[in-house]
Amino acid sequence: MKGLIIVGSAKMGSHTNALAHYLKGHFKDQSFEAEIFDLAEQPIHQLDVSGVSKPSEVYKNNLKMLQTKAREADFFVLGTPNYHGSYSGILKNALDHLTMDDFKMKPVGLIGNSGGIVSAEPLSHLRLIVRSLLGIAVPTQIATHDTDYNKLDDATYYLDNEEFQLRARLFVEQIIAFANNSPYEHLK
Ligand SMILES: Cc1cc2nc3c(=O)[nH]c(=O)nc-3n(C[C@H](O)[C@H](O)[C@H](O)COP(=O)(O)O)c2cc1C
Repeated sequence: MKGLIIVGSAKMGSHTNALAHYLKGHFKDQSFEAEIFDLAEQPIHQLDVSGVSKPSEVYKNNLKMLQTKAREADFFVLGTPNYHGSYSGILKNALDHLTMDDFKMKPVGLIGNSGGIVSAEPLSHLRLIVRSLLGIAVPTQIATHDTDYNKLDDATYYLDNEEFQLRARLFVEQIIAFANNSPYEHLK
């Protein structure tokens, strides 16, 4: 059983990435592998159904990797910064490159971070997208603010808020419970 955490920030070393790493550690504690695919580190090209644009080999390879990992994943975490009151376009573009076959009846956890007024609205918007992809967005979600993080000596962010650390544990346990029980397996 393995999961895929997609990070949709435009920034390398984002808060969302730090939260993804924190969750990855929790999944590992529960003997679950959760791989991080950070779209700032491994960018993919804009969806172009007409095929007019000519994406680079690097972008095409990144996309192939994303699609393979998504297909193999048993559960997902979708991570987004708050951009203009919603999830990022980068994340939406990645999801547009994926299909219902990748998400069908798989549990999906939603996480996000805001720099301004903390908001869960980007996650509410994502919940609708997950439903369209036939995934199961689990009830617990995590919406942090920049101030919930601190920096290590090498300037890497880490989650530094006890409440969210507790919530992260519940979040991970919930996703694992859904993945283990696969309550909707027969509906696939
Ligand atoms: C295009 C753009 C739009 C943004 N819009 C909002 C917003 O509507 N509300 C908000 O609280 N922060 C907004 N921000 C700030 C980000 O939420 C903030 O930079 C946050 O730290 C991003 O998290 P990250 O480090 O995980 O990328 C915006 C940032 C960008 C680049």
